[in-house]
Amino acid sequence: MEPSPRFTTSPTEAAAALLAGNLVALPTETVYGLGGLAHLPAAIQRIFQVKNRPTNHPVIVHIAGLAAITHWARDVSDAALILAETFWPGPLTLVLPKTDSVSDAITGGQPTVALRAPAHPLFQDVLAELTSPAHPAPGIAAPSANRFGQVSPTTAAHVEAGLGAYLGPSDLILDGGPCSVGVESTIVICSVDGVRIARSGGVTAEQLAAVVPVLTAASADSVPQVPGSLETHYAPAAQVAMVTTAAELSAFRERNLLNNDIGVIALAKDVDFAAPNWLRLATPKDPEQYAHELYGALRAADTLGLTHVVALAPPDDGIGTAIRDRLRRASQSG
Ligand code: TXA
Ligand code: MG
Repeated sequence: MEPSPRFTTSPTEAAAALLAGNLVALPTETVYGLGGLAHLPAAIQRIFQVKNRPTNHPVIVHIAGLAAITHWARDVSDAALILAETFWPGPLTLVLPKTDSVSDAITGGQPTVALRAPAHPLFQDVLAELTSPAHPAPGIAAPSANRFGQVSPTTAAHVEAGLGAYLGPSDLILDGGPCSVGVESTIVICSVDGVRIARSGGVTAEQLAAVVPVLTAASADSVPQVPGSLETHYAPAAQVAMVTTAAELSAFRERNLLNNDIGVIALAKDVDFAAPNWLRLATPKDPEQYAHELYGALRAADTLGLTHVVALAPPDDGIGTAIRDRLRRASQSG
C-alpha cells in the first residue's frame, strides 16, 4: 500500500499547513497532539470535531518557552515562573489566568489557559517557523491526537489509525518517531494560593516539590475543571485490570485462569507473575520504560483481539504515579 500523503517529516511543510488553517498532528515527548493555530477559531473548532470532543473541554496551548508566556497568560506567580524555568521545554503544563489572546473556544469559557512548552525538536522547529513580527509568540492548540476517551497516540501510525478517517485531505501528520516519555504532561494549576497537581504525568511530584511547595488538597475557590480526569479516559476496547498486590493478582488469576485471551503488562522483574497461557504485551525494565510502552501495549491488546489486559503496576512514586492514574482510568470502562 502507498504511504498516506498525509505523513511528513518536514516542519516547514507542517508550519505552512497550520498557517493555511489546516490541522497537523505533531510529535511531543509525551504523546502526539492534534494541532491547530491558537489564533484561528475555525481551526480550533475542527480540532473538537475531529476528536469528537465536547466543546467545554479546554485544550492546551503549546508555546516555544518562557519568553512567550506573557502573551497568553497574566498574573504569572513566582512559583509558576520557577516551574517554567526549571521544566520547560518538557512534560509540564501550567494552568494560569488567560490574556485576551486566548479565545473561549480554547478554554471552554474558563478564565484560565493551560500552557506547555514541548521538548520535541520537530515541534520546536514548527514553532520557530511560525514565529514572525506579526506573531512573535505563536501558540499551537493541541489536545492528544486521539478520539475522545481513547488511548493517546505515541507514534504517527497510531494517529493515522485513530484519526485517519476524520482528518481532511490537507491535514498532515508530522512523523517525529515514537514519543520518548509515553504518558501525558503533568498539569499544575497555578493560582495566588500556590500550585496544585491536577493530572500526574511526565514531571513527577517529587521533581516539582524539589523546587516549589506543592499544595495537596483542592483550594476552596473555584477549581478549573480538568476533564482529562474523567473516569473513562485512556481506555482500549479490551477490559483493563490494574493489580498492585499479590492478593489482587491471585484473585484475578482465580477468576480468569481458563481465559487464553489475556494480555499482560508487568516489569521484567515480575515476569513470572502471570498464568503461562497469557500473552506478554510489554516487559519494561523500569517504570520509565513502562510509561514509554504502556499505550502501545494497550493498543496491541485491541489489535490482537484480546478480551482482557492485566497490568501489574509499578510503585506509586515517580513516573509510577502517572502510570497508575492512567491504568485506573483505563480500567473504569471497556
Ligand atoms: O502531554 C500532554 O499534555 C498532551 C500533549 C499533546 O501536549 N496533551 C494532552 O491534551 O494530553 P489533552 O487535551 O488530551 O488533555 C489536556 C488536559 C485536559 O484534561 C484539559 O481539561 C486540561 O488539560 N486543561 C486544558 N485547559 C485547561 C484549563 N484552562 N484549566 C484546567 N484544565 C485544563
Ligand atoms: Mg487526551
